[in-house]
Amino acid sequence: MSIENFIAYNPVRLHFGKGVTDTLGETVRQYGKKVLLVYGKGSVKKYGYYDKVLGQLVRAGLSVREYHGIKPNPVVEDVRKAIALGKANKVEVIVALGGGSVIDSAKIISIGIANDVDPWQFMMWQTMPQKAVPLVNVLTLAATGTEMNAAAVLQNPETGKKVGFVHPLLFPKDAFLDPSFTTTVPKNYTAYGIVDLIAHALEAFFGGGEPSVIDRMTLDIIKDTMEWGPKLMNDLQNVNLRANIMLNATLALNGLTSYGKTGGDWGVHAVGHELSFLYDMPHGATLSIAYPAWLRLQSERIPKRIQKLGEGLFGTSDMEQTIEKLEAFFTSIDSPIRITEAGIDASKKEDILQQMNKNQASGMVHNLNDEDRKQLVTWMM
Ligand code: NZQ
Ligand code: ZN
Repeated sequence: MSIENFIAYNPVRLHFGKGVTDTLGETVRQYGKKVLLVYGKGSVKKYGYYDKVLGQLVRAGLSVREYHGIKPNPVVEDVRKAIALGKANKVEVIVALGGGSVIDSAKIISIGIANDVDPWQFMMWQTMPQKAVPLVNVLTLAATGTEMNAAAVLQNPETGKKVGFVHPLLFPKDAFLDPSFTTTVPKNYTAYGIVDLIAHALEAFFGGGEPSVIDRMTLDIIKDTMEWGPKLMNDLQNVNLRANIMLNATLALNGLTSYGKTGGDWGVHAVGHELSFLYDMPHGATLSIAYPAWLRLQSERIPKRIQKLGEGLFGTSDMEQTIEKLEAFFTSIDSPIRITEAGIDASKKEDILQQMNKNQASGMVHNLNDEDRKQLVTWMM
């Protein structure tokens, strides 16, 4: 029941609903005339979102440069190239069109253009940005919450790391969330998005502090997602179901679930990032694998908290039953719960453990040591 001291701050203007991008052009124009439009590998062109967004920008009289090709599990190299393009063209505002990978990249591009610092220095928390180019995003995939938060995650193949950076200058100015832009997200990424948003609620739930009302709201976000998620999996084009999941994903990581807390734990995300780094595994898939193992590891350490989770979600205080029900949910939407299910051979166990130990994958509240990681990998295989 303890409420921790906290500061709440979220300056993002959220535009939510069908047709919201009709005002994109005039919104972007407030921030400047020279736009850098950032997007991914091409889904936005295939499904017409690119045409809608470009049409808005052109009709508002803006000049547009583009950087595209951002990959899922985005890499710092793309960010460096986009920064060079943005600087050469003196861009005044960035528009990110895509999922978490595109928006995260655009956040670091925005501080990379505004400060003369190699972007990886930010990711390593070695330099703090002093300013940022304004960023507006148009979200096409409900999952990460990046659209309304101040975090970005990038990986660097040279240093062997996938890491996150958090800073108030990473808050986008405006976020445009039209659920109809997400109706084309394929089945697998729809499931990974559902897992990711549940995992964000869980990371918050297992963070420092136990504010009663926030606990209830956090569990409600998970329960609501468990109700609508499976329906969406069987009806991918349904805009109302997409809207429910989209709103839940934003609520799970826009700061709300951390009110009255010291923050989330993020140990499961740290473990998941190592799997993404090694095998380019989609983010959500790493979390449906890591959460059950992490809960098993913690069941002797924080039984009361896990019992509260079980009672809230499944009406049981039996911890193993809670973990099994969570696994059954992930399996029901076709997200893997074991590494081998994700197509990685059991012989890779040592490589995975080494990678996790090298980067000391751990949580903010619940520390993990080498022994813990060994146990986790065993359960995850
Ligand atoms: O590249 P394109 O062609 O656009 O295709 C993408 C990509 O293949 C496709 N896609 C996106 N919107 C679509 C679509 N396909 C059809 N229709 C649409 N409307 O989906 C694929 C995955 O996209 P991606 O952006 O990688 O997915 P997601 O939004 O799940 O982002 C994952 C990244 O966000 C990070 C993850 O670690 C990962 O790198 N995270 C960021 C967080 C944050 N900033 O707060 C928190 C999260 O915990 C997470 O770590
Ligand atoms: Zn996540």
